[in-house]
Amino acid sequence: MLISKTMSSALSTQVGNEFLASLQYVAIAAYFDGESLPELAARFYTQADEERMHAMKLLKYVVGAGGSPEIPSIPAPQSRFGSAVDAVQCALDHELRVTAQINELASLAKRESDHLSDGMLQWFVTEQLEEVSGMETLLKMVKRAGESGLLMVEDFLARTKAAAPAPTGGPAA
Ligand code: FEO
Repeated sequence: MLISKTMSSALSTQVGNEFLASLQYVAIAAYFDGESLPELAARFYTQADEERMHAMKLLKYVVGAGGSPEIPSIPAPQSRFGSAVDAVQCALDHELRVTAQINELASLAKRESDHLSDGMLQWFVTEQLEEVSGMETLLKMVKRAGESGLLMVEDFLARTKAAAPAPTGGPAA
């Protein structure tokens, strides 16, 4: 076993956190779908897939390192939102929580001189910069547009989607 039981357990907990993030984005996407805002919905359905990929990447790492993956129960995500701003703020809050969780895991790896896990986690550290800044930008846009201007956000997302690079899973865990 290349990682400690403590690290195996902490990473397994994070697998659950990433699955929760995935469910949270599905719930946000469904909200936008219900509001007839397909581009915002698509953005969050895609983000949900990315979060599932994060969970699987961590899970496969634990297995590969000889740990004991234990997928925890996943709490229900927030499903009701008062507005688009409310929904995107929920997503940003979630990303900030995940960033703190990833930083805590990286700190644990360093305390344990677990260079293998530390190296693997650095991909997540960098990923969080992209995820938090992307969500902050979207929140600013949605706030600026207001509920009556959300079609402008839809138009912007539709125009930029084609030019955006496809999400990647980074190096194989
Ligand atoms: Fe996997 Fe968006 O954090």
